[in-house]
Amino acid sequence: MTTYSLLILPGDGIGPEVMAEVRKVIGWFEQNRGLSFDVSEDLVGGAAYDKHGVPLSDATMARAQSVDAVLLGAVGGPKYDNLDFSVKPERGLLRLRKEMDLFANLRPAQCFDALADFSSLKRDVVAGLDILIVRELTSGVYFGEPRGIHADDNNPENEGGRVGINTQRYTSGEIRRVARAAFELARKRGNRVCSMEKANVMESGILWREEVQWVHDNEYPDVELSHMYADNGAMQLVRNPRQFDVIVTDNLFGDLLSDAAAMLTGSLGMLPSASLGAPMANGRPKAMYEPVHGSAPDITGQGKANPIACILSFAMALRYSYDLGAEADRLERAVEKVLADGVRTADLMGPQGGTPVSTSEMGDKIVAALAEV
Ligand code: NAD
Ligand code: IPM
Ligand code: MN
Repeated sequence: MTTYSLLILPGDGIGPEVMAEVRKVIGWFEQNRGLSFDVSEDLVGGAAYDKHGVPLSDATMARAQSVDAVLLGAVGGPKYDNLDFSVKPERGLLRLRKEMDLFANLRPAQCFDALADFSSLKRDVVAGLDILIVRELTSGVYFGEPRGIHADDNNPENEGGRVGINTQRYTSGEIRRVARAAFELARKRGNRVCSMEKANVMESGILWREEVQWVHDNEYPDVELSHMYADNGAMQLVRNPRQFDVIVTDNLFGDLLSDAAAMLTGSLGMLPSASLGAPMANGRPKAMYEPVHGSAPDITGQGKANPIACILSFAMALRYSYDLGAEADRLERAVEKVLADGVRTADLMGPQGGTPVSTSEMGDKIVAALAEV
């Protein structure tokens, strides 16, 4: 029997709370579908800093490199806000992404029909929404050099005397590989890609547009490609989000646009993601799965967190790392059923109100629904 290895990194804040619900889901698949998972758990973010003085130990990094898939909860929180930049919780997450070379971050935004009235936009704008943002994840301004905060000694007119620097840098190779990921995914969906940059003001944006076009013309002429300035893209996402199928964009624009897309679906607590790298020896991509949301310090420890983003991230692991597409579909159907039944965590309470269920109750309902869908 195949055993699927999974490293769970719950992290901080609501991370451990939502991860406990994924554990129930994994247990269900083991007991009822004959699947075998080799699950291990380790520390990341503030939790790792508290124990090891670093947000990701070398030993944890090595474990992440050796498993079929990593599932991460969330990192960060006010307790760690004043730490030195190099040991902030977020650095642990960025190290995982960079050293595993997870260059393609898939952030699907789907509006479940049962939630169409909870979106901040009108039902007729979001009903049936199904878009996929492919965010470049290992380069751009997040990692470009030079970077830092320096004394601005030669500039007496600079009040305060300091300068903060980050560099937006993309190579053609980095753009081409994430563009290929987007075109491949588009072929399995609506066959349309919209690439977003700011080629009107940034040289890296001009290169982005040219290289995406090159990959299209030479390798994917059958896929429909359009280009859009990212600011217009933000506006179009709110104006008429269903015009998009796959959006491919850089690291920073992808971060912003995917948070905006999250709200179209009803709540940030709904959005999963998959961060994929190059294929490993077994042909599956190196991969980490993480909800799009953060550690939500404002609701930590209150049983209010919506576990669906993390549970749907596990569904993406079933699909992309374990080749268990039918089981992924089953888990997504279970989530859809529970929502259709009117089960809601507090973040999904509309203006009409109602009684929300707790994080744990939502997990239990989804597990119960797995047997019925
Ligand atoms: P956040 O995503 O943690 O929270 C934003 C808002 O959404 C909050 O009101 C929160 O209560 C709500 N929310 C988020 N997830 C929810 C869920 N599952 N259920 C219900 N409500 C949910 O963003 P933030 O407040 O800007 O950041 C808090 C910390 O998280 C920071 O330290 C930040 O760096 C970190 N962060 C981590 C990740 C990650 O680990 N991938 C992502 C984003 C932010
Ligand atoms: C995300 C987060 C991260 C990012 C932070 C926590 C490093 O916002 O995953 O969207 O900026 O990429
Ligand atoms: Mn983000």
